[in-house]
Amino acid sequence: MDKILVLNFGGQYDQLIARRIRALHVFAEIKNYNKITPDEIRQAGYRGVVFTGGPHSVYADDAPRCSAAVLSIGIPVLGICYGHQLLAFLAGGAVMPAESGSEYGRTQLTVKENVLFSGVPQTSVCWMSHTDAVQTLPPGFSAIARTEHCACAAMADDERKLYGVQFHPEVTHTAYGTRVLENFVFRVCGCKGDWQMDDVAETTIRHYREVLRGKRVLLGLSGGVDSSVAAALLHRAIGDNLVCVFVDHGLLRKGEGDFVERTFREKFGLQLVRVNAEARFLAALRGVTDPEAKRKIIGAEFVRVFEEEAKKLGQIDVLAQGTIYPDVIESGKGDAATIKSHHNVGGLPEQMAFSGVAEPLRDLFKDEVRAIGEALGLPRALVWRQPFPGPGLGVRVLGEITGEKLGLLREADAIFREVLEQAAPEGLPNQYFAVLTDSRSVGVMGDERTYGYTVALRAVTTDDFMTATWTRLPYDALELASSRITNEVKGISRVVYDITSKPPATVEWE
Ligand code: XMP
Repeated sequence: MDKILVLNFGGQYDQLIARRIRALHVFAEIKNYNKITPDEIRQAGYRGVVFTGGPHSVYADDAPRCSAAVLSIGIPVLGICYGHQLLAFLAGGAVMPAESGSEYGRTQLTVKENVLFSGVPQTSVCWMSHTDAVQTLPPGFSAIARTEHCACAAMADDERKLYGVQFHPEVTHTAYGTRVLENFVFRVCGCKGDWQMDDVAETTIRHYREVLRGKRVLLGLSGGVDSSVAAALLHRAIGDNLVCVFVDHGLLRKGEGDFVERTFREKFGLQLVRVNAEARFLAALRGVTDPEAKRKIIGAEFVRVFEEEAKKLGQIDVLAQGTIYPDVIESGKGDAATIKSHHNVGGLPEQMAFSGVAEPLRDLFKDEVRAIGEALGLPRALVWRQPFPGPGLGVRVLGEITGEKLGLLREADAIFREVLEQAAPEGLPNQYFAVLTDSRSVGVMGDERTYGYTVALRAVTTDDFMTATWTRLPYDALELASSRITNEVKGISRVVYDITSKPPATVEWE
């Protein structure tokens, strides 16, 4: 099996690069730059190495650097962003703060003819995010692309098969990014592309059958894609040794609690315990307005409820969770900066009454999780269900969370979803929901002055949730949602639509 090494230098995108390469049916493995030596790289038989981006400057004292010997192993290298600068530095070039300033966001790219850009038009759009730039090319290299502010947006030493790109080919904002990765993996490295995603499900099941042998496992089931796929995987691995606990924290969408209970009890035959804990969560959240504090409280309360249930269930050894890779990376991992703590990672109390944690989806992106769900034969309606965050409506009610505000949001959200699902059942955005802002505004209904909450509608288009664009919803659908919400939900007097992409915003508001 051909494999590519993704050498991580502390960026946010190592898993995304690996995921893009795996989508080309080539296995990609991630290692931290300081966890593998040039000799080990040679011996492992990689067909190529990708240097990831990272937030550092190559000359900084604490800059992550691998040995220059990696360039003489004889296998191709592709440096991306920081990796491009590091490649230039290691090969004898010079890197400086960009002369006319840093570049951030969509940028026009002009490429020269090169194997790396085979099939890429002379001009196209790429995604830039850098301050430093390559100033002096290393011996043997030539510049093969430029942007308005960056004379060396890409460089190549075709003889030694060493390539660097300042832009990010792994994000969807780079129009021909996948083509660049494809060219590197197939044309430069000579990979065949015969690796399958289904292998991951089987390998994971075998792994957990082994490590969880004889153990009773408790899984927190939310009914979302992640925990459902984790439940299906673990059920295949250990059967009835898996007990699923569904905590209804009162932060679920309209009708969701009953739906989850019905689906899993009746269709899957899983051992399921439902805990109605709304009052308890609302009490813990009373008076709390800080988003991070709310997330932490919800996460901590969740685990406490699990622990109590675990005690009632007798001997439970391991806590299982449907954590997926974007949850891990956005909670801060290794050298990557913390963005916000996800409830199933950051909220875990230090003292847990379980001897271990099993997270079978920890290395996977959402679309990979879905592919596994399908490979396991889960119903499409569940596999393609839009994601719902662990802290639920808790991150969609801004300010203090109260029963009244939750009630308003539940109704508004249900209307918005219904309108979109009826308007375009086939072309639904990847995620769409309502947010209850903490601001009220004046309105008029009949002859009455109203003073109600403002609801924000959010819909995003994305394939990995690491980046997302706001969805261009039809005006008719927006109008219908707005008029139904203001008419049917007493207490909401204004509806706005969120037109911010990620970055700079996140998908959720908190
Ligand atoms: P953000 O807001 O980080 O969301 O851009 C990216 C995706 O993750 C979901 N999300 C969460 N999922 N626990 C989860 O299981 C969380 O704490 C959490 N916060 C956000 C979000 O709905 C979106 O799909």
